[in-house]
Amino acid sequence: MAINVILGDITKVSADAIVNAANTSLLGGGGVDGAIHRAAGPELLAYCRTLGGCRTGEAKITPGFRLPAKYVIHTPGPIWRGGDRGEARLLENSYRNSLRLADENGCVSVAFPSISTGVYGYPLDRAAAVAVSAVAGGLGECRSVRDVTFVCFDARTEAAYRAALDELGAAK
Ligand code: APR
Repeated sequence: MAINVILGDITKVSADAIVNAANTSLLGGGGVDGAIHRAAGPELLAYCRTLGGCRTGEAKITPGFRLPAKYVIHTPGPIWRGGDRGEARLLENSYRNSLRLADENGCVSVAFPSISTGVYGYPLDRAAAVAVSAVAGGLGECRSVRDVTFVCFDARTEAAYRAALDELGAAK
């Protein structure tokens, strides 16, 4: 089992599944959501329209269509409201439910963006700590997922996830 951090564009990653930091409508948006929909093509939105949305922290899976990835797993992360509205638990749920769904669909490799740290305003270092802990914990329950990659879109995010991963390793 491996957890890696890279700097890059998740729409270019040929993992079995890439995860989309979506919103509850699942009908697209800006940020990584917009990038994934642009790269996947219009069939993705058409498919998402049949899903009836998705609650925060839950996850739904679609084909990847024109993306290199076979699947897209859409999960709405929490909007940051100060930290005392259950945000950490909801963010953990987004990672764990996405991992579980990937596993149930036989994926070996999964790529995550930094969920909720853009438009949704989740403080980066706190989000990275929740993310790596949730993935490390969830991997232990997976039967097929072996490799998880955090695909960071800028150097600051990459540094935060590397630091969180080091911290987790040190904590073991
Ligand atoms: N590849 C990887 N990461 C990306 C990409 C990309 N192509 N584009 C953006 N990101 C990064 C951002 O830089 C940020 O670090 O994804 C992270 C999450 O930011 P957002 O995309 O803003 O997602 P989030 O904070 O979860 O907000 C979700 O924004 O786009 C809307 O529809 C979406 O309403 C939802 C909300």
